[in-house]
Amino acid sequence: MGYKVAVVGATGNVGREMLNILAERQFPVDEIAALASRRSLGSECSFGDKTLKTLDLDTFDFTGWDIALFAIGSDATKQYAPKAAKAGCVVIDNSSLYRYDPDVPLIVPEVNADAITGYSKKNIIANPNCSTAQMVVALKPLHDRARIKRVVVSTYQSVSGSGKDAMDELWNQTKGMYVPGQEVEPSVYPKQIAFNVIPHIDVFLDDGSTKEEWKMVAETKKIVDPKIKVTATCVRVPVFVGHSEAINIEFEEFLDEDEARDILREAPGVMVVDKRENGGYVTPVECVGDFATFISRIRQDSTIENGLNIWVVSDNLRKGAALNAVQIAEVLGQRVLKKG
Ligand SMILES: NC(=O)c1ccc[n+]([C@@H]2O[C@H](COP(=O)([O-])OP(=O)(O)OC[C@H]3O[C@@H](n4cnc5c(N)ncnc54)[C@H](OP(=O)(O)O)[C@@H]3O)[C@@H](O)[C@H]2O)c1
Repeated sequence: MGYKVAVVGATGNVGREMLNILAERQFPVDEIAALASRRSLGSECSFGDKTLKTLDLDTFDFTGWDIALFAIGSDATKQYAPKAAKAGCVVIDNSSLYRYDPDVPLIVPEVNADAITGYSKKNIIANPNCSTAQMVVALKPLHDRARIKRVVVSTYQSVSGSGKDAMDELWNQTKGMYVPGQEVEPSVYPKQIAFNVIPHIDVFLDDGSTKEEWKMVAETKKIVDPKIKVTATCVRVPVFVGHSEAINIEFEEFLDEDEARDILREAPGVMVVDKRENGGYVTPVECVGDFATFISRIRQDSTIENGLNIWVVSDNLRKGAALNAVQIAEVLGQRVLKKG
């Protein structure tokens, strides 16, 4: 016996990947519903070798459904997630709406799967921000060995992290550069993204940081350890899919780079590619469609006591969103619902 699963936002970047990953990982599904806004009613989505007709979220009744994987913005989530949860369907949400709610667990299964028991307070489980998810998969095994004091991270985030309209903007701006008169003005982003980088993701906060940077700080504390200090600079780059991060870590204890490499090789969800030669590292285009978080450029930072530098790359639509959500559903199925 399997589960009745609803994918909410099935026409979007993350929702489409959720359907792919549920099929690829053979999640035990008895019945599946693809939901989106009324605009998409009747449009088609793929689920393995099946084609699903998209249903209207607004009129959908979640009664009798086991799990809803939500991938719509925070405003729509606020309207619909409580309805689904109240109807007895466990919501696994990708928006930022519930991530910092003390009554909602924020889960990366490789890191804090045990926290899932907290889901029952609201019948909701939160999925972290894409940049946090891949970073904590890398940090946790190192923290367990040498206790992380401080993290300095710079991100290189692809445009798919801002949804399908942002991917169109990069594509159209890039094409428009070559055709006089067809230049495309920025609309999703505040400045041109083609052939450029933008050090600004989400809104600015009073202290000069951005909300995206704040999310990496708050979510790392909630998922890994509240004692870890994090400072982040989040940058949008003209890459379609795949987020990269340069991470500098300061530990309480000395951790040799070779030992760090061995620890990461054994860590769940991690693939180490770290040859000190031309091309001996992973770049975002190579991680697309993969489940792993790739780690390269593992090296001592001798400018501080107990320092290490790493380079982390992952498919933001997968580990950063859809894969992590499906992994949460797997943990929920195995430990709580126990139907599959
Ligand atoms: N992309 C990432 O890397 C990433 C990572 C982590 C979290 N997230 C989060 O995941 C969510 C979805 O992101 P995305 O990148 O997939 O966005 P997207 O490509 O723009 O897709 C948005 C989806 O939400 C649906 N939707 C929007 N408003 C709705 C409404 N009022 N009622 C019903 N459906 C509605 C859209 O349906 P229509 O097609 O019918 O408009 C579409 O299916 C966001 O909260 C985002 O912050 C994204």
